[in-house]
Amino acid sequence: MNRFENRVVLVTGGCRNTGLEIVNLFLREGARVFFCGTSAASVAAGEAELARRARADYRGIVCDVGKSADVAAMMDAIDAEAGHLDVVVSNAAHLGQGENAAPDVPVADFLEILNVNLGGTLRVVQEAAKRFFLRQESNAATGQRGVVVCIGSNTAHHVQRRHVSYCTSKGGLESLVQCLALDLGPRGVRVNLLEPGYIWTKRWNDLPEEVRRKRRANTLTGRESTGENVAEAVAFLASDAAPTFQGSILKMDSGATVALYPPYAEDSVPLPEGWKEDMP
Ligand SMILES: NC(=O)c1ccc[n+]([C@@H]2O[C@H](COP(=O)([O-])OP(=O)(O)OC[C@H]3O[C@@H](n4cnc5c(N)ncnc54)[C@H](OP(=O)(O)O)[C@@H]3O)[C@@H](O)[C@H]2O)c1
Repeated sequence: MNRFENRVVLVTGGCRNTGLEIVNLFLREGARVFFCGTSAASVAAGEAELARRARADYRGIVCDVGKSADVAAMMDAIDAEAGHLDVVVSNAAHLGQGENAAPDVPVADFLEILNVNLGGTLRVVQEAAKRFFLRQESNAATGQRGVVVCIGSNTAHHVQRRHVSYCTSKGGLESLVQCLALDLGPRGVRVNLLEPGYIWTKRWNDLPEEVRRKRRANTLTGRESTGENVAEAVAFLASDAAPTFQGSILKMDSGATVALYPPYAEDSVPLPEGWKEDMP
């Protein structure tokens, strides 16, 4: 398939793992792709991996989406080189790993994560809309002038211990995406949110086998998504085949959050060994 021939795509955080697979899929399907990361080294590593895969028509840009000046400069570069933008994938995220439990999270750290995950998405979409989408002719077939796909997380509604900042940011993304869709939708821009659960990344290589096994057991499919799986879903939402996906929130978490209760809380299943009444 060549669903994105002659389309210009921006993927934030496209240097590695999920973002890199999203970049790779758009390139494979004919797009010209810009992507960003936080340092020259990570951008160079992303470019090197794409070169290894014999991809062409990509350009990495150093841009911290937490900084308005960086986002403006990235849009300047896209304007100068392509003069057009069709798709934005807001994938970059501060994962907030190693956080304290909620009572001890420093507010400065909390705000830093919101600034990247929520503020970064808002900055990128605002700039893309003002500079490109709202000035461009609409696509004759779809009536659209631009598409945004944001990457959220199933932790928006099933939160994790010691991840208050990250979960809050992904929860806020649900509202942000709907607000963006509401305000930009009537002007020809589609905005949707994909919410993955576990995604295999290179970090899984460092996990003990027991942890991988537990994660997989916590799904209904016995498997985590791959970056390629996420990229396929992003491509669908960004494609002309999804004209009525607008302000949608699409969960893809292998069924990990379907059940209301964990197995041991079901009447028919015994409590796990070592369970204490006061366990949270
Ligand atoms: N991994 C999972 O299991 C999982 C599950 C659910 C949802 N998600 C979501 O899926 C997306 C990708 O996750 P991932 O695990 O593949 O991420 P990752 O491996 O941590 O990569 C994140 C990418 O975002 C970039 N980035 C981080 N902060 C940035 C900033 N301030 N400005 C610009 N770029 C920035 C990083 O740039 P550098 O390379 O320069 O550091 C990197 O390229 C995220 O939105 C995440 O929340 C992930």
